Amino acid sequence: MLECNVVTIRNASLGDTGALVAELGQAGYFADRLERQRAGLGMLLVAWSGARPVGAVYLWLDRAEERDIRRYLPGVPLLTHLEVASEYRNQGVGSSLIAEAERRVVELGYDRIALAVEVRNWEAERLYKRLGFRDWGQRRSRLLRRGQAPRVVPRPGQDTRTPDSRY
Ligand SMILES: CC(C)(COP(=O)(O)OP(=O)(O)OC[C@H]1O[C@@H](n2cnc3c(N)ncnc32)[C@H](O)[C@@H]1OP(=O)(O)O)[C@@H](O)C(=O)NCCC(=O)NCCS
Repeated sequence: MLECNVVTIRNASLGDTGALVAELGQAGYFADRLERQRAGLGMLLVAWSGARPVGAVYLWLDRAEERDIRRYLPGVPLLTHLEVASEYRNQGVGSSLIAEAERRVVELGYDRIALAVEVRNWEAERLYKRLGFRDWGQRRSRLLRRGQAPRVVPRPGQDTRTPDSRY
């Protein structure tokens, strides 16, 4: 569990479902991620301001759904579906969720983490870059990740490119 001056971050539990859905919507999504977490396939981390869930991120530890990610980043954890309630943005909640996810990943013995962001999602992209994620330069959506290994991961529906050596 991580505490910062704004929020406390911990794994969601089934009992949190009502509050999560009331605040962030997406009942089906949260039900699915809670079930995945129960099965040991990932972690649903939630930022709380008192009794109010104000942000969440899901750490995907299962085999990636995207063929190209399985191919180029086998076994690398994925940071997915980061969201902070609009009135809590720009206060460090998103950064804290990412920091906690990274802490968990390191604790589990991984040395890399990956994520995808839509090309036009400038706010999220700026945040990820500020935190040290690197751009893989894909066209429609891009994958950013920490680490040293030089790899390009095309997203489904994009050109397949061979790993390059820019990084
Ligand atoms: C992207 C998102 C998760 C960021 O969450 P957030 O809580 O606003 O993130 P942070 O507050 O940690 O960082 C946002 C900015 O606020 C700044 N900030 C952080 N704490 C601050 C503070 N106390 N005072 C002022 N600014 C602060 C950060 O430096 C950062 O600036 P930057 O964009 O120039 O890098 C949020 O905008 C969101 O939910 N967007 C919609 C969903 C989405 O697009 N998710 C990403 C999918 S890939």
